[in-house]
Parts: sequence; C-alpha cells; structure tokens
Amino acid sequence: MPLLLAIESSCDETAASVCRDGKILSNIIASQKVHEAYGGVVPELASRAHMQHIVPVVDQALQVAGVTAKELDAIAFTQAPGLIGALFVGAQFARSMALALNIPLIAVHHMQAHVMANLIETPAPEFPFLCLTVSGGHTQIVLCHSPQHLEVIGETIDDAAGEAFDKTAKIIGLPYPGGPLIDKYGRSGNPRRFRFPEPQIPGLDFSFSGLKTAILYFIQENTKNDPGFVESNLADICASVQERIVSILMNKLKKASLETGIREVCLAGGVSANSALRNTLSETGKQMGWNTYYPAPEYCTDNAAMIALTAYYKYLAQQFSPLDTVPTARANW
Ligand code: KG4
Ligand code: ZN
Repeated sequence: MPLLLAIESSCDETAASVCRDGKILSNIIASQKVHEAYGGVVPELASRAHMQHIVPVVDQALQVAGVTAKELDAIAFTQAPGLIGALFVGAQFARSMALALNIPLIAVHHMQAHVMANLIETPAPEFPFLCLTVSGGHTQIVLCHSPQHLEVIGETIDDAAGEAFDKTAKIIGLPYPGGPLIDKYGRSGNPRRFRFPEPQIPGLDFSFSGLKTAILYFIQENTKNDPGFVESNLADICASVQERIVSILMNKLKKASLETGIREVCLAGGVSANSALRNTLSETGKQMGWNTYYPAPEYCTDNAAMIALTAYYKYLAQQFSPLDTVPTARANW
C-alpha cells in the first residue's frame, strides 16, 4: 500500500497530490494569474510563483489526505518536458524531501502522466489502448501497450492543438488562455457557419499552423469593412474554429484505430476538457464501435494527481531515480 506525494511544476500550475495504493487522496492546484496580463506564460514569473506556492500547496495536499510527511513511501515529481526554471523548483523540492525523509525519488514524464490520467477513475481503458493527447505544447496519438510502454505513433509537425485554440483566441481578442473561452462561446454558435481548411498531412501526424494563418486572414478580411464583425459573430466564429480543430483531431484518431485495430480510445491533456471534443469522441465512438474514455476535467489540465498515479506504477516496478536527477525542458519517451 505505497503512500506517495507527487509534485507538478512544469508550466504555470503549482500542484501536489497524495495517493495511497493508486487511489488519489488529495489534488491541490495553485494557478498563476500573473501571466494573464502578458497574453502567455512568462517563464521567469512562473518560476517565482512556483517558489511562492510550493510550500503551502504541498502542506495542503498532505492535510487534505490526512497524512504526515513521515508516513510517505516515496516522492514523485515532473522531470520533463516543460519550462526549465519551473521544473527546477518542483524537482529541487522533491529531491530535498526525499533526502530529508530518506525515501525513494520517482521522476515522471509529464506527457506519460497526461495519458495515465485516464486510469485514475473507473471505468478505465484496458491495455492496449489509443490516447489522443492534446495540450498547450503537444498533440500526439499514443499507442499504450502497458503503463511502462507507451509509443507515440503520430504527432504535430508544427503547432499543438492547444496553441491553435489559444492563438485563435488571441486573434479575436480573447484573453490568455483562450481555449476554455472558445469552448464557452462556441457552445451557443453555429459550427457550420464558417468553413476553415483541413490540412492534408500524410500518416498520423497533425499540422495546425495553416489553420491559424487562414483564421488570421479571414478575420482581417472581414473586419476591413465591418470593425464589429468579431463581436457580432463571436459564437459562430468560436464554434466554427472549434469544429475544424476537432475534425482534424478526430479524423487522425479514426485512422489510427483502423490501422492498429484498437477500439479502446481515450483523450488526455488540457484540450481534452473541450466539450465539443468530448462530445465528438463519444459520437464517433458509437459509429466506430469504440469504448471511449476521458479524464474528469480536473485531471485533463495540468495536475499532480496524474503524476502521482504514474508514480504509483513506477513504484510497483521499482523504477526509482537517483537524488541528483535533473529536469530537462525537452524529453523523448
Ligand atoms: O495540459 P495543459 O493544462 O498544459 C500543458 O501541458 O500544455 O493544457 C493547456 C491547454 C491550453 O492551450 C488551453 O487553452 C487548453 O489546454 N484548454 C482548452 C480547454 N481547457 C484547456 N482548450 C479548449 N477547450 C477547453 N475547454
Ligand atoms: Zn500538461
């Protein structure tokens, strides 16, 4: 019955979670509002905010779980990928705790953890399954053979799906991060009102940079003679952009299922909180005969519960890391 504490600090959320024997007992997140004024995450400010938040966040995670640090069997942290200064804060905190408590350290890959978020709640997908991982920095189709063996079989060649949402939001004047706002306004819009192009990329890879450019030209063209165009068509623009991003993602996911013969299909990452993507996955799943899954919204965006669950499987496999393990901004699987 291992009792684990996990820390996540790869971007702009400082998060800690305690899990016992694979059951999440607490999931605490401090989001950083400081970046809103800049239209994106400012790395230096992120590191400073992690320094401010990490002690109270870890304290609260232990308190909510009803445990003390002395009871812990291991400490896990996000090793990569992410903003290097942000990763250092979580890594150094975890290394120090592991040293002080004389317990093992577990280094976790952030993208593996996003996928593993699907195993936090039941029903969970059965291995082997396919996972569409869509976040602010990544867009991947992952073939999951086992908790320890995940294989990326498709990924973006330029922007991530989250960037497509956030950059569109910026073009139409919505604050950062715009993904959740496009979702919100798009709910009351007509997704077929405006047609944006679908890129023709071979295989299972994605591209979103052409879509971003098409949206930019579309908005420039339409606001030339009508400065109020965006305001008066906001819901339809959001719904139409969302429709196209979702169709690009879903077409590749269908292709991956047909090629691999796998019908256990799930979503992961911040963009998997998107209501249109979740609904489309369920509908597509019915047509294709898939069993479909997505994590609860709090486990889609960055959180430490997914780090804790991944660490639980690593603990079972005795995959520990030396105390001098360093984070890296980029990382292969
Ligand atoms: O996984 P995540 O929290 O952080 C990264 O590891 O990148 O993903 C953040 C991304 C942002 O681009 C954000 O706009 C997007 O997820 N996002 C959404 C929604 N909620 C978060 N995009 C569309 N609809 C949403 N409801
Ligand atoms: Zn993430």
